[in-house]
Amino acid sequence: SLVDKANYRHFMAKEIHEQPEVVGHTLAHYVDMATEKVAMPVKLPFDFKDIQRLSITACGTASYAGFVAKYWFERLARLPVELDVASEFRYREAPLRKGDLAIFISQSGETADTLAALRYAKSQGLHTISVVNVPTSTIARESETALPTLAGPEIGVASTKAFTCQLAALAAIAIAAGRARGELSETDETKLVHGLIEVPRLMTEALALEPQIEKLARDIAKSQDVLYLGRGTNYPLALEGALKLKEISYIHAEGYAAGELKHGPIALIDEKMPVVVIAPYDRVFEKTVSNMQEVAARGGRIILMTDAQGAREATVDSLVTIILPDMPATVTPLVYAIPVQLLAYHTAVVMGTDVDQPRNLAKSVTVE
Ligand code: G6P
Repeated sequence: SLVDKANYRHFMAKEIHEQPEVVGHTLAHYVDMATEKVAMPVKLPFDFKDIQRLSITACGTASYAGFVAKYWFERLARLPVELDVASEFRYREAPLRKGDLAIFISQSGETADTLAALRYAKSQGLHTISVVNVPTSTIARESETALPTLAGPEIGVASTKAFTCQLAALAAIAIAAGRARGELSETDETKLVHGLIEVPRLMTEALALEPQIEKLARDIAKSQDVLYLGRGTNYPLALEGALKLKEISYIHAEGYAAGELKHGPIALIDEKMPVVVIAPYDRVFEKTVSNMQEVAARGGRIILMTDAQGAREATVDSLVTIILPDMPATVTPLVYAIPVQLLAYHTAVVMGTDVDQPRNLAKSVTVE
């Protein structure tokens, strides 16, 4: 058939490993590789300068891609972003300003709540962009501008490559917005685009960590609960990590902003609870180290996903460290997605669950 598992045991494994290639395809659609500038595939029917507020709406994993993008649009384009899950957005009758922009993210382009949210935004006179993987889908057809992800067919119910392709497209759109709004110089743009172009290579390096993660998964499979922590754009990635693990291994997992640890989840920490900390060495790294010390002081087991510098600076006991290559801060959520996905995948394999078709879940939720 057109789509098969090649030599992989599951579609999910194949799709995780396809990411350097499909993220590369998606990027090639949004940036000019030679000049290292953003090049939108279509001309947008509005000027980012005229947008006062951006609303981003999606469900599930796509909503976490949107959450990462919120940080990018706010930082790179100084554009205020409101992020919603579609099931809330469609009913809360958010006051929207005519002429503002709403972005809808969906792999399938058929999710009922996301489609209803799109229709609501249109009825309020907003410009609408959809970031979709299925170009013939209802959401793609009904939005004013449909921007594709080029992930190819995603079969595993748990989204992997669609997520990182969504991030790639959204990063390019955020850079375009930053340029149009005069918040980024040409040099900033080149630097950021250069960073994006490096992502496929960085992902290939991250995939080489698989043996270490497979071993770690045997340990994680014994747990009842797993906590994921991150700050900044790696906070949404922590949410995605927890979602991925619970979806396919059925181990209870929660994602938290590392700074919120003290406000609740710390009560759960004991020797039995692994805490996955997603923390590249960045301007908030030291803050995360103190959160890790709080976990270690209570006997919690820490799995730290970081880079070489982070591994040196993390002065914490009881640590498993997964060391990723150095990269610009903007692209960390794309590359750190790989160990996060691999950990969920291998844990599910150890548990013996139906990885590609987890119980009770559907690939596309077309009813409310
Ligand atoms: C379901 C799928 C998820 C997906 C979500 C949104 O819950 O199992 O993998 O993230 O729907 O789907 P969409 O097609 O709109 O991205």
